[in-house]
Amino acid sequence: MSQPQQNLKPVEVLIMAAGLGTRMKSNRAKVLHQLGGLPLITHVSHAAQSLSPKSIVVVVGHQAEEVEKVVRDDIGELARFAVQAQQRGTGDAVESARGLLENSDSLLVLLSGDVPMIRAETLRKLVEHHQSTNSDCSILSVRMENPTGYGRVIRNEQNSFVRIVEQKDASDEERQIKEINSGIYCFDTRKLFEALKSVKPANHQGEYYLTDVPEILLSEGGVVTCFVHHDSREVSGINTRAELAEFENLLRRNTIRGLMVDAGVTFIDPSHSYISPEAKLGRDCVIYPDVSIEGKSVIGEGCLIRSGARITNSILGDNVTVKDHSLIVDSEVGSNCSVGPFAHLRMNAKLEDKATVGNFVEVKKSKIGRGTKAMHLTYLGDATIGENTNIGAGTVTCNYDGVRKHETIIEDNVKIGSDTMLVAPVRVGARSVTGAGSVVTKDVPPDSLVAGVPATVKKSTKQS
Ligand code: UD1
Ligand code: CA
Repeated sequence: MSQPQQNLKPVEVLIMAAGLGTRMKSNRAKVLHQLGGLPLITHVSHAAQSLSPKSIVVVVGHQAEEVEKVVRDDIGELARFAVQAQQRGTGDAVESARGLLENSDSLLVLLSGDVPMIRAETLRKLVEHHQSTNSDCSILSVRMENPTGYGRVIRNEQNSFVRIVEQKDASDEERQIKEINSGIYCFDTRKLFEALKSVKPANHQGEYYLTDVPEILLSEGGVVTCFVHHDSREVSGINTRAELAEFENLLRRNTIRGLMVDAGVTFIDPSHSYISPEAKLGRDCVIYPDVSIEGKSVIGEGCLIRSGARITNSILGDNVTVKDHSLIVDSEVGSNCSVGPFAHLRMNAKLEDKATVGNFVEVKKSKIGRGTKAMHLTYLGDATIGENTNIGAGTVTCNYDGVRKHETIIEDNVKIGSDTMLVAPVRVGARSVTGAGSVVTKDVPPDSLVAGVPATVKKSTKQS
């Protein structure tokens, strides 16, 4: 079977993201506003990536540098940028990418930076439709109960595509039409740029409308078709903060439903749980109300996360209990650990299996060994602590001399007495004990008891 020539063409993507988004009433470009913890533009570029395109061109304008950075940090080399200095319409936005794409023998999937719910699956189907119908332009359209604001798809008696008319240019009769242009298309790249030369700003808004291109292609004998999609929410654009909140809610519900149905996670109150779409949770986790799990956090199986906890970009092993109001950021917790209540783990804190960090304990950039406990009111910063050690209430690693940070090392099977100040840099040898209220300024040899201010060796703890 001979395949149409077009089938062989690689896919490229163009994302329009130059607008400010006036209706957001914001100083920040619309595509930088966050949904599910990710900028809108990132949702779109992820969907684009799923097509394995040759490149993704992003048209930037408002806060171009910030938008570029967000995209580049996320997808790297795949991204290219076209700057549209003045926003003169969607046709002009595409025009600004002419230099990058005009001569590309490819299919161009066009997306908007403010339509974040678009799914990879839908884009794949659009491309398949485009190829199988041998179209020069395929428009992703959808029926909307309330089509106000969108461009309408005008068809003839044979039900074939005729043109798109914008809301502001439509007659009363045309405004009754419920089939709308989603603003997502697949084009033959070269034909798009050729036709774009004929677009004039002869309309109500005095803008260069990309939506004039399909009609131009048609008049030149090209094939223009609509791929009618069924889910209008997926192609809805975000224009206001109220819409943003609606989508946040929708995304959150979808994420939590997926975790309940597919991953076997229990939510005590799904409507008051906040889980990033990028997070992973293991089977038989139980999530209490008012828990936030953000970023690319990974939670093992059987974890119990109590109310008020926030876990950001962190990894938890299996059977971890996180008690109420604990904060875990950029950190790692081994299996069978217990954290909180009111604990704070941050900056690459690492708890090995069976460690316990209790009430009002802060752990910064420190490693806590297997089975080690710090139960109450303690600060552990820049510390490395061995196994089966007990850190008494009120212990502080005095890691900062006002200029630099210093390290504390506590070896295995140590007992740090309550209210010990460990003045770093300092090392406490294995099996040693510090008395309550010690101020440890010098290294403590293994197997010794130190006490006092400053702490001195009182006796050996070695058992003969
Ligand atoms: C556009 C379509 C409309 C469609 C709707 C779907 C046109 C003329 N109209 O209208 O038919 O129903 O999308 O959501 O295309 N942008 C730029 N530079 C510009 C103008 C826009 O980059 O000069 C970007 C915006 O940042 C946005 C996207 O293009 O991401 C869409 O522009 P917008 O002004 O929102 O178009 P709509 O009026 O929604
Ligand atoms: Ca829009």
